[in-house]
Amino acid sequence: MTAPRGALRLIDVRKSYRVGPVTTEVLRGVDLEIKAGDLVSIMGPSGSGKTTLMNIVGLLDRPSTGRHVLDGRDVSGLGDDALSRLRNAHVGFVFQAFHLLPRLTAAENVCVPLVYRGTGRREALGRARAILERVGMGERVAHRPDQLSGGQKQRVAIARALVGMPALLLADEPTGALDTDTADETMGLLLELNAEQGVTVLIITHDPAVARRCTRRMRIDGGQLHEEDPRPPGSAGSTAPRRA
Ligand SMILES: Nc1ncnc2c1ncn2[C@@H]1O[C@H](COP(=O)(O)OP(=O)(O)OP(=O)(O)O)[C@@H](O)[C@H]1O
Ligand SMILES: [Mg+2]
Repeated sequence: MTAPRGALRLIDVRKSYRVGPVTTEVLRGVDLEIKAGDLVSIMGPSGSGKTTLMNIVGLLDRPSTGRHVLDGRDVSGLGDDALSRLRNAHVGFVFQAFHLLPRLTAAENVCVPLVYRGTGRREALGRARAILERVGMGERVAHRPDQLSGGQKQRVAIARALVGMPALLLADEPTGALDTDTADETMGLLLELNAEQGVTVLIITHDPAVARRCTRRMRIDGGQLHEEDPRPPGSAGSTAPRRA
């Protein structure tokens, strides 16, 4: 049985790090259920474990204990190779610092996830150009990152995250390095992509204005995750379909 793409569950997930003699328990029993097409924000103090949680959700890291179910499939016991194949097919990442490769053009950067999948160069470039067009960067395909503004770099990074048609888009402070207007536009783009393509989006942010534009808001503190009250009906912000 296959659940809809992009749905996930964490069940009593714990994560500890040991550095020398000191063990720090960062996640202390996190339960999370995200449905396909959800648009979720996670806020929390610095050091509270947001990035740790995102790395687990995105299959970059494993819980110390607990279960991780992706689209109805328990992935907790998968080996490294299976995990990275699943990650490449299923998850797109966007980071605060963009993480574009400096020597590659915008189009070549967007091709990277397809190249890892073995897609031919011509097809990869065609798909990269199409998605760059979609994010409003059609006239910058040949620019290198140092020839782009911060907001433009983040658009390229979003295009790279989406070019492989992932079910799940994970963004770790995607607007953290952008000015207010550019952050607004970038959020607008993520909202549109969520509504248009049904991609499930999880955004880590320190910015309450960003969180307000999401349909579900969560907070992590003391190693545990809590859902905040739903947005009041009629409140402005998201263009995503209203949840029942
Ligand atoms: N690889 C690691 N080894 C040891 N400790 C780690 C490791 N990664 C994270 N930590 C610790 O786990 C805690 C949570 O870190 P994390 O990066 O998840 O926080 P965060 O909520 O993303 O913070 P910020 O808002 O500053 O990005 C911190 O105390 C950090 O020192
Ligand atoms: Mg972080």
